[in-house]
Amino acid sequence: MLLDRVKPLDAILATAQKKSLHRSLSGLQLMLFGIGCIIGTGIFVLTAAGAQKAGPGLMLAFVVAGAVCIVAALCYAEVAAMIPVAGSAYTYSYASVGEFFAWTVGWALILEYAVAASAVSVGWSGYFSGTILNEFFGVQLPPWLSAGPLALGGAPGGLINLPALIIALLVTWLLMIGTSESAKVNAVLVAIKVAALTAFIALTLSSPEFDANRFNPFLPAGVFGGVGSGLGAVGAAATIFFAYVGFDAVSTAAEETKDPQRNVPLGLIGSLLVCTVFYILVAAGAIGTIGGQPIMGPGGIPFPAGSEELARQCALPQHAMALVCSDEALAHVLRQIGFSGIGNMLGIAAFLALPSVILVLIFAQTRIFFVMSRDGLLPEKLSAVHPRWKTPHIVTALTGLVVGVGAAFFPVGLLADYANAGTLYAFFMVAVTVMMLRKTDPDRLRPFRMAGVWIVAPLTLFGCVFLYVNLPIEAMLVLPAWGLIGILIYFLYSRSRSHLGRGIIEVVDDVAGKEAMIPIDPD
Ligand code: ALA
Repeated sequence: MLLDRVKPLDAILATAQKKSLHRSLSGLQLMLFGIGCIIGTGIFVLTAAGAQKAGPGLMLAFVVAGAVCIVAALCYAEVAAMIPVAGSAYTYSYASVGEFFAWTVGWALILEYAVAASAVSVGWSGYFSGTILNEFFGVQLPPWLSAGPLALGGAPGGLINLPALIIALLVTWLLMIGTSESAKVNAVLVAIKVAALTAFIALTLSSPEFDANRFNPFLPAGVFGGVGSGLGAVGAAATIFFAYVGFDAVSTAAEETKDPQRNVPLGLIGSLLVCTVFYILVAAGAIGTIGGQPIMGPGGIPFPAGSEELARQCALPQHAMALVCSDEALAHVLRQIGFSGIGNMLGIAAFLALPSVILVLIFAQTRIFFVMSRDGLLPEKLSAVHPRWKTPHIVTALTGLVVGVGAAFFPVGLLADYANAGTLYAFFMVAVTVMMLRKTDPDRLRPFRMAGVWIVAPLTLFGCVFLYVNLPIEAMLVLPAWGLIGILIYFLYSRSRSHLGRGIIEVVDDVAGKEAMIPIDPD
């Protein structure tokens, strides 16, 4: 029963044929698109949480997380080029392991996209408050308006993160009225982000403050902090994995890519490799100049990032300048080493560029909800398209509210860890899908056929499980708890309403398009 209701690939592909987008993207364009989706709060903000978990071992963490993403990206590339339709991992699973698992993937993708959008909103808020309000206007937001409550892992005196709530709602509104990111805007924002990170690397690595002794001890919390501890280099890897999330958006552009066999892996792996190199150098620059040793608790174990204890420690004067305590880590480093002006410019770069990451994530979320609702698994009202805006406005508004609530009350590190748990599950299922489809549908045209699938896909499975068990225990538990809620909804609501279960499937993928219903044999 759990493996039944596999959506026929032919029907899914009929959708793609109707859409048949022009193949116009080059490998380089794909790479730029990827970098635009990838670089965000992870590097600009979570560098602090990563250093609290691993110290200088953060550099190793970036390598580990980047490696898992590269093998996962190859799996995504094959299946995305083969099934180039909306819905990403949810749709791929529907065509291979069937409706139940597809539902769990769609459900987990809420963690990947909506919760990640909340995390990026909170990251943006740090730069908005620190650079724009404080440095430029001399305004200091009261603590109760700039962070969630301490009880939820926020800051002492925190109640609501107002800037994070506002940016989440603002981006949602833009999406509702039909704004999508144009290639030109994306190119400008990528240039801004890359310029900011390049300046950061050049200034820190050449600074007289740079001191190799700051890398000693390199692994103050070890390589393995222990399952569920979220500590050590691999614990940091599980958290800063967030810095790479978003590359899967590139795989969705596979159908628009020229010569996909060559350009899709080039774009995906290229963007991940470029980001990995940037991230390692940024970590080296930050730690080498102002240090990045964790604040240790009892027994020489770092206080958990995002914990109440760490928030209290960071409020003490002796830790006020520590990297691990900063809400705007990279701007903070530049200010510390005498480049206040450039630090502020980097803050402006984050202020300008992070909303586009929020936009991509909320957009992706609404499209997943849209497809799930069109499949009958969520209420069909959700997929209503606004007559004038031509956008799925109801589902967009609901998504925005969820994202806003997450952003308003929870700290960035916690949100990122939750998002990572969901993302790792989705990546895992994509690797399963790639192998299943090689067995069940070996002759189907694969515009990009991954070499060494029986090595790469199992490596992806292993990498996902490995990072998952190195998340903090709360984040590990979120996935099964969230999954259980999802499974209840599936059996109480969705299963009986599923279009596939009722013998109908749609073949139009276009959000604003009319749906043709094709009767098929019910299971
Ligand atoms: N990778 C994206 C970021 O770091 C989600 O903001």
